[in-house]
Formats: sequence, C-alpha cells, structure tokens
Amino acid sequence: MALSRRSFVQGAVAVGAAAVAAPFVASRGAESGVAPRMPESRLPKPFTRPLTVPPVLTPTVATPNTDYHVIRMMPTTAELVPGYRTQLWSYNGSVPGPTIVAQRGRKTVARFINQLPASHPQLAYQSYASVHLHGAMSKPQYDGYASDLIQPGYFKDYRWDNTECARSIWYHDHAVHHTWTNVAMGLAGRYLIVDPDDAKFNLPTGPFDVSLHISDAMFRDDGQLALDIPDLKGSWGDVILVNGTPWPTMQVQRRKYRFRIVNGCVSRSMFLRLSTNEPFQVIATDAGLVPKPVSVRALRMSNGERYDVVVDFSKYTPGTRVVLRNDSLPYNDGYTHTNKVMAFDVIGGQVDPRNNQVPSQLRPENEAMRLPLPVVPKVRRFRTERQGGEWTIDGYTWHDVIDSNYQLVAATPIVGDTEVWEFHNSSGGWSHPMHVHGADGRLLSRNGRSPYPYEVGPKDTYYVGENETLRILMKFEHPGKYMIHCHNGVHEDHDMMVQYEVVGLTEQGDDPLSEAAEVYQDQSL
Ligand code: C2O
Ligand code: CU
Ligand code: CU
Repeated sequence: MALSRRSFVQGAVAVGAAAVAAPFVASRGAESGVAPRMPESRLPKPFTRPLTVPPVLTPTVATPNTDYHVIRMMPTTAELVPGYRTQLWSYNGSVPGPTIVAQRGRKTVARFINQLPASHPQLAYQSYASVHLHGAMSKPQYDGYASDLIQPGYFKDYRWDNTECARSIWYHDHAVHHTWTNVAMGLAGRYLIVDPDDAKFNLPTGPFDVSLHISDAMFRDDGQLALDIPDLKGSWGDVILVNGTPWPTMQVQRRKYRFRIVNGCVSRSMFLRLSTNEPFQVIATDAGLVPKPVSVRALRMSNGERYDVVVDFSKYTPGTRVVLRNDSLPYNDGYTHTNKVMAFDVIGGQVDPRNNQVPSQLRPENEAMRLPLPVVPKVRRFRTERQGGEWTIDGYTWHDVIDSNYQLVAATPIVGDTEVWEFHNSSGGWSHPMHVHGADGRLLSRNGRSPYPYEVGPKDTYYVGENETLRILMKFEHPGKYMIHCHNGVHEDHDMMVQYEVVGLTEQGDDPLSEAAEVYQDQSL
C-alpha cells in the first residue's frame, strides 16, 4: 500500500483531478506582509488577573451508558490586551472550550456544530473545522481526520467510547492546512477520562485538581491576533496564557494540588520549573497515570504533550508567591515575559486535609507500560526533514496524501500488534513534537539512552528535539487510517503530516471519511 515517491508522482496524474481542492496555496499568502505588532508597553502585565477555569460541560441528555453533548463553534471576543477586544473562535463561547469529563466505560456522543462565520475574519479562508480528541483511541471516522471537514452550517456527531485508561487529554481543531490558526483562535479544550477506581489513591480532587491549559499569543497593534508569520518555522507569542488568561495568579492553600497541564501552544515548547526550585511530582503523562510518581525540578514539554503534576505548597509560609517559570529552550522565540507562566499565591488559614496524598505506586498496570517488546522487533523509521521551506516526514506531506486520494500510507501495522517506531531529527535547528494518532505507546529510548525519568509513562506525543532519535513502542487498536504529524501547528499545516493504516485481521478498517458532516437545521437543539 505504501507508495514510493516515484510511483506516487506517476499515480498523482491519475488521481489528482479527483482529489479535494487543496486550500494550501491560498493560505500561503500569509507569508508576505507582517502587520505591525502591539508594542510591549500596551500588552497585559504578568500576574494582574486571577486564573479562571473553563466550565465543565453538562450533558444535554444522559442515558444509562452515554452522555450526549452539544458544542457550537462560534465567534467570541475577549479583552486579552487591556482596552482591546480580540476576536476569537470558541466552543460554546468559552476559550479554552468547556471541559468534558467522561467516566471511563461511559460513552460520549458530542455534536459539534459549526456556527463560525463563512470565512476567517483576517485570513479569509473558508471556516471549515474538524474535531480531534487528542489522546483517545477513537475510530478513524471520529478522530478529527484533517480532511473530514465540518463546513459552516454543518454538524457532526463524534462518538467516543472512553474505554481507555483514565487520562487528561484535550480536544482541538484539526482542519486541513488551517489547524494552527483555528487553534490559535481558540478552538481547543480539555477532556478528562476519569476512573472511579482512582479514588483509592487519595490524590488531590475537587478544587485541588485543576487543569492548566497553556498557550501563547502575539497581537497586532489593532488588538487582533497576529496570525501572519514571517516564515514557516512556527508561531511564538509574546503573551503566555493559562486557561485563556495572560499570566494569571491563583491562590493556593498550604497543601498539595494536582495540575493537569497541557502545552496548547502552537509552536512553543516549554521548560517548566518552580521559581523556588523545589521539586514537584509527575503523576501522569499524556495517556494516563505513571507506574510510580517521579520527582522533578524541571520538565521539558512540547506542543500537545500533557503532564499531570502534584505541587506541594505546604512548605511555604503564607504570603509566598511561587511562580511557574518557563526556562527558554533553544529555537523558541523568547520575549520579555515568556519566561513566566503563572503565579501561585500561598494563603494562610484553614487547610483542607482531605485527598492530600501521592502514593508511592500509581498504575504500573496501564497497558502502554506493559507492552512486550516484540521478539523480532519490526522497526519503522521516520525522518523529519525540511524540504524547500516545507516540512516533511520522509519527504512526504499531507498534500501528497490528498493527491493520492487518501491512499498513500506510511506504514501498515496489524491491529493488536506492537511495533517499534523510530523518529529521527537530524537538524540542529528545530524540534518536532511527533504525534501518532490511534496508538498509545511508551518511549523506549532517546538517542540510544533511557528516556528522561518523567517521560516513563503512557504517551502519544514525543518530543523529538534537535539532533535526537527516539524509539517508541506502540500498540494499534482499531483498523483504519490515522494521522502521524508534527504538533508544531505551523509545521503540521505546511505540511508535516502523513497517515498510516492499521490493518485488520478479519475486519476491514473504517474509512476516516465515511461519516460526513450533515447540514445543521434543528436550530432548537
Ligand atoms: Cu493534538 Cu493530531 O493532534
Ligand atoms: Cu491526537
Ligand atoms: Cu515539526
């Protein structure tokens, strides 16, 4: 099934006409002019606003085994820069979108309705969308396949089974060639698969269990998002936002807190530590609780990765401010305040003593951690490369996938099999957070050595740094085609994404394009 470059070029002549009109060329215009930036003097100041937490979505209907949700993509505005209203795109009016909490084993049906204006206010592209639940083992037709589009005025029901082990994941737009701008406009939110059995760990819960959705933004001098970028290396903002608020503050009791962190920046990788240099504990990686907590002083975190950490504030005297810092990593554009993320202000008074623990063992039984190394490991190798300004995987792009009429696949693992995949980044000049849809895995090695201790957990996104080679062990759950891409959104859209196909033994895989969005008529919903 995998086409070589040569056979693909020849085949393209035949299928090219049938392929979906590619919006790619139109989006390139953004490279030419760069609008004037909002001067730093007018940008928001760090630590002037409180942290907010997006609302938890209430199901419209709940049956004994399924929660039904309705989520509308719609424009909104927010005062991110004092005195300016920035146009954003939201899920249900909230940026980030509402948090969806799914109990493991209960199904979710989420109806996403595209009520965006017909075209993007700045870039004028057609406002189509695709919704991906990043970190779930969704069937191909519910995985937010980049070319499975919901046009304005259309909706699609995504069916997610939530049979995965508990994990802190996120949903975000994945529309072909416009993913990064759609996400930068606000189309992203958290989704938590929770397992009642985790209660036995007595980890912080309720108000002490907080999702932190980190992103960054750059503004034009008219207060709108700066979405024109000078090259295709990435988009780095000069304002850091947490849950949509610039450098917020949060009051904390003198006790433990669980923070479910996602790096939702388009391109910025982070190197997180506390200003006090005190250690904190990593309790979960992308796809679930780790075998045992890992104490760290700093954490490198690329786009799309999640870490759940527990920070213990009991050692600080009331009045202490602990800043979550971002020590800058190479090849990330840094600005005056991008070395800070948010501040925790320790308060005195009553401390809630309940659920204030981190046990010494968490979930060694999570499947990704128990995957056996294949006796004769099949190693698939992927080179990440820049070619003529474009980003590629082994020289291929999503454009090639479109031109092949979605037939071009980079790998064909068998359902239920475990395989070793190797990602290689020979460049010294940039990193690529590689994300494999449809497969939980774990990192076997980084440059031939053990992964960082805090990376030893179930994962789906892997930081392939400058001059690094990673080996990953993965298991493939559902037959069908899934995307593989770099999670630097600018690389992803230009056009560092390919697909692979999980081959069924008896069953045929579902076609990711088999369940098209429908016209939305029922205004009452
Ligand atoms: Cu978070 Cu394919 O994406
Ligand atoms: Cu994903
Ligand atoms: Cu990349």
